[in-house]
Amino acid sequence: MSLLTDLITKAKAQNPQLGADLEREFRALSSRLSFGLNFERHRPEAVELPQRPVRRGDTVRILPPRGTTTKGDQRLWVVESLHKAKNAAVLRLMDSAAPETQTVATDDLVVVAEFRSTIYPGLISTGKVSRGGGKPWHTVISAENYHALKALTWTHRGKVDAIYIDPPYNSGARDWKYNNDYVEADDLYRHSKWLAMMERRLIIAKELLNPTDSVLIVTIDEKEYLRLGLLLEQVFPEANVQMIASVINPKGTARANEFSRIDEYIFFVKIGDAQLTRWKRDMLTDRDYSEDEDVRWRGLARTGRKGLRPHNPGSWYPIYVKIDGSGIHSVGDTVPMGAPDPVKAPAGTVVVWPPSSDKQQYSWSVVPETLRELMRRGAVRVGRVDMSRKSVPIYYLSFNQLQRIEDGDIKIVGRAADGTLDIAYAEGSRSTAPKTVWNMTSHDAGSHGTNLIRALLPGRRFPFPKSLYAVEDALRFFVKEKPEAVILDFFAGSGTTAHAVMRLNRQDNGNRQCISITNNEVGADEQKSLRERSLRAGDSDWESRGICDYITKPRVQAAITGKTPDGEPIKGDYKFTDEFPMADGFEENAEFFTLTYETPVGVSYQTAFSRIAPLLWLRAGSVGRRIDKLPAAGWDVADSYGLLVDLDTATDFLKAARKAKSLRVAFIVTDDERRFQALSRRLPEGVETVRLYESYLTNFAFANGDSA
Ligand SMILES: C[S@@+](CC[C@H](N)C(=O)[O-])C[C@H]1O[C@@H](n2cnc3c(N)ncnc32)[C@H](O)[C@@H]1O
Repeated sequence: MSLLTDLITKAKAQNPQLGADLEREFRALSSRLSFGLNFERHRPEAVELPQRPVRRGDTVRILPPRGTTTKGDQRLWVVESLHKAKNAAVLRLMDSAAPETQTVATDDLVVVAEFRSTIYPGLISTGKVSRGGGKPWHTVISAENYHALKALTWTHRGKVDAIYIDPPYNSGARDWKYNNDYVEADDLYRHSKWLAMMERRLIIAKELLNPTDSVLIVTIDEKEYLRLGLLLEQVFPEANVQMIASVINPKGTARANEFSRIDEYIFFVKIGDAQLTRWKRDMLTDRDYSEDEDVRWRGLARTGRKGLRPHNPGSWYPIYVKIDGSGIHSVGDTVPMGAPDPVKAPAGTVVVWPPSSDKQQYSWSVVPETLRELMRRGAVRVGRVDMSRKSVPIYYLSFNQLQRIEDGDIKIVGRAADGTLDIAYAEGSRSTAPKTVWNMTSHDAGSHGTNLIRALLPGRRFPFPKSLYAVEDALRFFVKEKPEAVILDFFAGSGTTAHAVMRLNRQDNGNRQCISITNNEVGADEQKSLRERSLRAGDSDWESRGICDYITKPRVQAAITGKTPDGEPIKGDYKFTDEFPMADGFEENAEFFTLTYETPVGVSYQTAFSRIAPLLWLRAGSVGRRIDKLPAAGWDVADSYGLLVDLDTATDFLKAARKAKSLRVAFIVTDDERRFQALSRRLPEGVETVRLYESYLTNFAFANGDSA
């Protein structure tokens, strides 16, 4: 820039008109330059949906012949017509100037969902495990997360308390795909593809988070942490973003000519009034603060470089301590630098100055006015006086500690004769603020991630699960005080987050619920061997080896039941914060779903309803009975929600709704806004009313366009 302005100045000197024109253009250009993270958005993003039946109008790819491991034709085609009897489709090449058509067997096609068409998501239940009585259900959804997040904007807008995600780290080692292709280390666009993928999902995630009080937690390593940090600031400009370093592999990964890597990073994006709860660990050391006996008073004397008098000129003043050591008589005023110190002390007192030597003068920790205010509140005390060593230690309580007295964490046990507080930690509140470097043995991903999965699912492997205890600790800081919290992980992988939430619930009898979303990808190596066995994505033998079906759902099931998929009790114990045999399991409920893509035409109301039924139940808090079918009586009232389909039966519906004890939502099916309003007014206060269109699927039409 400065070179350009220099050149413009030179041009002005030689040819004023040319210089002025150049300057005008330069100004216009530079005002258009946006600062921050600039990257190619790679529109549109697309995913293959191998299990979706092919329909007319769909965008599809032609699969390579079975048994081959080559990539095949990557071009996109549109299905012009279908010949069901012949099991064939007539295809037209998309976005091509030269018209090209061909007829292909429908079995050799895979539907491609581009992120620019409208989708009608539904959910099909694929199993459940229930040991939690009336507690809310955890859910695991097998889906492309972008589409599942879109569906959640209907069920959970502004309702999510915490999101924990561990996205692909973009390592270049076939750890994720963009538009069906692994993003390799030599891809020139690998950073912008990753950013485009993340930005799209974070923008929807933001719509789900409670704007007044929630947190987004994202883990990442050295490959993308710089870009992720900027992206988070850009998507959440009003939030407080903090990054911490977390040791997850103390042995280290050796790299040629590089430091051996032992840590990764965790971004905490605090939204609204999100409060960080203190805990018994500082996360850096082994110290257990819950074992602390006494509240620590701070020394008033400030030493070290930052404590030098010139850095704190207002904090050099005398304190007059009663000669018998029974307390402070009074506090003098600040002595400006260069001015003489007062020599006279009030009778019966000894003067105490901040520490000093021949060379240096230090300071007190606070200015005189603050010290006087603290004294009025009984928050300053004199320690053991030893006149022979001229030692008169003075201690004080910080405003933070005074706040903790007000909050009840620290209780006042009594007062000394001079009014000084006698304080102690209230039961269970010995805690500290966590530090920004975490070094916990419990966070070792190998021992408490990989090995844990081995115990839960013998013989099955998942690449790089997080340590269960690391996720538990990260979440605890923000959901400890929220026993009903809704937690979401949309890169759920092996399901560690759901497992951690169950552990947190057990520690305080909580009712937190976790929504886990993950796709059903098969690892790169296994894909090759499955292809060699003539299998394709979409075949049941292939899908059963996908992450969600093979790992996530069985892991959550094993954690709850305490049994491996073979029905054997899980070997080993949970460690650290809450130790008990893994075979005990958890008293929790979980249901498993697969996201479907419905078509608004040709689907009967009954079928359409059964696919959206889980969405209504999710919106009402995933608790209690679900209304899975359109009620024959015209209405139904379950535990947490009611459904009115036939307005002529409204009187009975309202009667039942008023009787229901824990009704949260009433869904009313009508195209008539006026009648909807009239009925809403007659429902009990506090019940949220939601109107559904009579053609069910139109309620769930999500413009799949890019918000980014
Ligand atoms: C790094 S892993 C998460 C591991 C997890 N934290 C654990 O402890 O097991 C990321 C996961 O996100 C899933 N994933 C990646 N892209 C996805 C997408 N677009 N939609 C849904 N899931 C996706 C992958 O299948 C992978 O299992």
